[in-house]
Amino acid sequence: MRIFIDSANIEEIREINDMGFLAGVTTNPTLVAREGRDFKAVVQEICTLVDGPVSAEVLSLDAAGMVSEAGELAGIHPNVVIKIPVTEDGLKAIRVLAERGVKTNATLVFSAAQALLAARAGAAFVSPFIGRIDDTGNDGLGVLEDIVTIFDQYLIDTEIIAASIRHPMHVVESAKIGAHIATVPYKVLKQMVKHPLTDLGIERFLEDWKKAKM
Ligand code: G3P
Repeated sequence: MRIFIDSANIEEIREINDMGFLAGVTTNPTLVAREGRDFKAVVQEICTLVDGPVSAEVLSLDAAGMVSEAGELAGIHPNVVIKIPVTEDGLKAIRVLAERGVKTNATLVFSAAQALLAARAGAAFVSPFIGRIDDTGNDGLGVLEDIVTIFDQYLIDTEIIAASIRHPMHVVESAKIGAHIATVPYKVLKQMVKHPLTDLGIERFLEDWKKAKM
């Protein structure tokens, strides 16, 4: 399973990218708005930093508007992937864009049924929102598992991105289930790196080393 960061913050993305495991970036309108910067400039800068897919979301609600926004965003850099919510218009836009060779990431996916339709419309990626599904009292990882089973069963090559990740175990479970990618917030990536026994082990090795030198 590949690891993306779910962030529009350049400093966060740079710090994580320097650790060597990052394979892509996803953003959403909330994350970009938080930065208070020009949307296209942010996407452009992310693309120069990270060598991998960078998802940028459309804001239009109608298919024609989505397709037109997608054209502008896709022009920023060849790695830009267009995030499109799964609605009736969203599916139409995904189909049009697939025919034009523009990659899409079907977002705000809350059911296996939505994921299947998005894949069949031609989405390159689907993003089930694990944490937000859990928030509704349902089983986010269960939905992810259903999507993996269905895509495997029918040899669907759309990649599954476990999104709305809230803690390290969401990432581990997503990997066990067979998601292709997890897009993980900065805070959770830092939690994943850290283990108190690693820190303690380093401390003890250094102490023992100093003692031996005396
Ligand atoms: O990738 C999906 C993400 O942007 C939404 O996450 O934490 O707002 O549910 P969250």
